Amino acid sequence: MKLGINIDHIATIRNARGYSDSVSLIRAAKICKKNKVDILTVHLREDRRHIKDNDLIVLKKISKIPINLEMALTQEMIGIVRKIKPSYICLVPENRKEITTEGGVNIKKLSKKLFKSLYDVCLKYNISLSAFVDPNKKQILMAKKYGFDTVEIHTGSLEDKKVSKKEIQKITNSIQFAYNLNLIVNAGHGLNFNNIKYLKNKKLINTIHIGHFVIFESIFTSLDKVIAKLKRITR
Ligand code: PXP
Repeated sequence: MKLGINIDHIATIRNARGYSDSVSLIRAAKICKKNKVDILTVHLREDRRHIKDNDLIVLKKISKIPINLEMALTQEMIGIVRKIKPSYICLVPENRKEITTEGGVNIKKLSKKLFKSLYDVCLKYNISLSAFVDPNKKQILMAKKYGFDTVEIHTGSLEDKKVSKKEIQKITNSIQFAYNLNLIVNAGHGLNFNNIKYLKNKKLINTIHIGHFVIFESIFTSLDKVIAKLKRITR
């Protein structure tokens, strides 16, 4: 399995202080590179609540890792794709009030006109096009019909305190189903050190995408070191 790391939450922390430079994201991209991360993911949201346009421009310029742009299907985002030309796109639903992406995209509800426009841009620039879908065969089949080359199966239910066998089975079946349709199969949302084990048919998965856990866990992996250094400096 390849590993995609979503660095949006670094921007969230940066933004909390009203900073706007991309230095922290560049640092994160370099750490990802050092650790042989395969894909660097950012979600440029309509409300720009974490990653900003300039971050994407800078990351595209300096990142030695291919970029996966998560985005809603809008005219504005298609324009940005034309300009940035990321290696991968993952279409996600977007709702201003949500804390994070809450569910998969409903492919049937996508604007056909906008989809055709994005599809043509992807063909022209050889960009892989993925749909973030719930573990639902109808949506996976629809993604295949529309011409997506990839689906990312929503694994959010694996984050529940008590992971149900039914949910594990749903995800396992969806991965197999998408794989059998010759789609590239990715998985993501809510994944962490512990629940990756529930991805039973890992061999069929091309890439897992992880964001929040990586940043949250990193705080506790480093908090000790940072405080100890401060204590040394202030002694
Ligand atoms: N995959 C997709 C399509 C997402 O929208 C997100 C959240 O931005 C992730 C993966 C990562 O989810 P998490 O932050 O829970 O690891």
